[in-house]
Amino acid sequence: MFNINLKRFLIYNSRKLFTKKPNYVNDSNFEFVNSLRKNGFYKKKEFSKKNILANEIITQFEKIPNIELQNICKANKNNFERYGYRSKITNLFDKKLLYEYANQRIFIENFEQYFGLKPKVRLISVWIDYPTDNKERDSQIFHRDYDDVFLTKTFLCLTDINYDNGPFQFIPKSHIAPWDKKLDTLNNKPTFMTAEKGDLYMADTNGFHRGTKLKKNFRCLVNVHYVSERPMTGFPDKIIN
Ligand SMILES: [Fe+2]
Repeated sequence: MFNINLKRFLIYNSRKLFTKKPNYVNDSNFEFVNSLRKNGFYKKKEFSKKNILANEIITQFEKIPNIELQNICKANKNNFERYGYRSKITNLFDKKLLYEYANQRIFIENFEQYFGLKPKVRLISVWIDYPTDNKERDSQIFHRDYDDVFLTKTFLCLTDINYDNGPFQFIPKSHIAPWDKKLDTLNNKPTFMTAEKGDLYMADTNGFHRGTKLKKNFRCLVNVHYVSERPMTGFPDKIIN
């Protein structure tokens, strides 16, 4: 009993109970779904090579002078605010491109199969994360997201990500019973999502996860959050932000 987050248990199970179950036999027809369902995450290497819109985003990113990105990092080295290790660089990209990227068929169809209902894009945001003098904090500490029962977050890597610049970590299968505090441990070995520029990774972040604190360099990602039409956290005023 004490190992259960009761509020989460009730919300999660009532939403699932009143939503038509996905037709699981079709999972294999959707590239992302088997792994998301089973492990809670999926990684597609070289996603941008075959995806025109992702490739265009990478091209826009490459036009940003490196010094501009380094200056953002330098200016925030001692930022002690919440999420002080991160800045948004969304406004350096074409909004229409970001919108079309997030809403393209491959994502909508895969997440419709995963959720069993039509997904909505809740947020599109481009981040730069950098090392700071602070201790690990906020999303750098293992946690579960509360945006929605139906939730996937995708991350298009604009830079290579190695052990020094903040790889995402996820406890495999921890999304299956997100109310179960027994799963909020590191007993199951966390996956380190190291990646190369152009790779795409995604997770059902109802599972236990974090972005590790950066030691060097910086990390840039295009984040898109997919939810149901009734996310617990509502929709922000600006979806692209
Ligand atoms: Fe999170």
